[in-house]
Amino acid sequence: MTTPILSARDIVKTFGEGHTLVRAVDGVSVELQPGELVTITGPSGSGKTTLVSILGALLRPSSGEVRIDGADLSALSDAELSRLRARSIGFVFQSFNLLEALSVRDNVLFPATLAPGGTRAAEARADALLEKLGLTGRRSALPRTLSGGEKQRVAIARALINEPKLIIADEPTGNLDSKSGQQVVMILHDVARDQGKSVLIVTHDQRVEEVADRVLWLEDGTLRDRKAEVRDWVRDPVCNMALDAWTSTIFADHGGTRFHFCSDRCRERFLAKPDKYTGHESGTVIPLERRPK
Ligand SMILES: Nc1ncnc2c1ncn2[C@@H]1O[C@H](COP(=O)(O)OP(=O)(O)O)[C@@H](O)[C@H]1O
Ligand SMILES: [Mg+2]
Repeated sequence: MTTPILSARDIVKTFGEGHTLVRAVDGVSVELQPGELVTITGPSGSGKTTLVSILGALLRPSSGEVRIDGADLSALSDAELSRLRARSIGFVFQSFNLLEALSVRDNVLFPATLAPGGTRAAEARADALLEKLGLTGRRSALPRTLSGGEKQRVAIARALINEPKLIIADEPTGNLDSKSGQQVVMILHDVARDQGKSVLIVTHDQRVEEVADRVLWLEDGTLRDRKAEVRDWVRDPVCNMALDAWTSTIFADHGGTRFHFCSDRCRERFLAKPDKYTGHESGTVIPLERRPK
């Protein structure tokens, strides 16, 4: 068992008091392992930004425990928190948050000025990151001359400059066209897979969910694992096809069990002779490792 990079327990965050009290986050527990890419989705106002701000040590919770790389955040002073953020966490925001007065390269280098270690090494890393993200030709440009996709790639390079173990991105593809969004998804995916970093992304982007190890759903301040809990795969008892019970609309209840079917034809054959088909595996949940990709 590896130590999680991030572990949060029973996180609650309230804003205001009395009749204006809002429970933005209401008892969330989550862990992230090295190399894992996890997404958080949910309706607007469900607490996504508040939650990732707490998980990223930008905001203190009202109660609950957050550990990053083993360190209990509640035991740290504000100054220690900001050092931990600089060293261990890279942030990517929907609105890029680049410094307009600085060149692309200086934006990427900026967090290195807050971290220990030589600027020399940081400069070499910045140039390698710019090269890797296809930005070498834009290294001296000012942010306002860049496209949205280029800006977000600069923001990703900046998030990676101090070699953090945890990357947190809040709707990183929200302001991008489809092609640039796709590039950003692939880059974040590589960061998790090839570099073993934990990547947590708030997103509604289907492409991100496709490459995610886990898809967490936040509603009214609480989290659910949608891939594991809700998306049960079952077999059509007639033709044995694997079906996603979550989206399947053709079903019949028999003997206290709900059976799902690939088509009306299979459903009719089942209803004509249910006993013939209610054998071993029918209607049962298929274990995770045997589900279709
Ligand atoms: N600083 C704040 N002060 C008061 N209420 C806040 C503050 N930040 C967020 N909220 C409230 O907390 C809830 C969750 O907000 P947020 O985390 O931004 O949701 P999401 O990112 O899912 O849209 C909302 O009801 C929002 O109005
Ligand atoms: Mg938000």
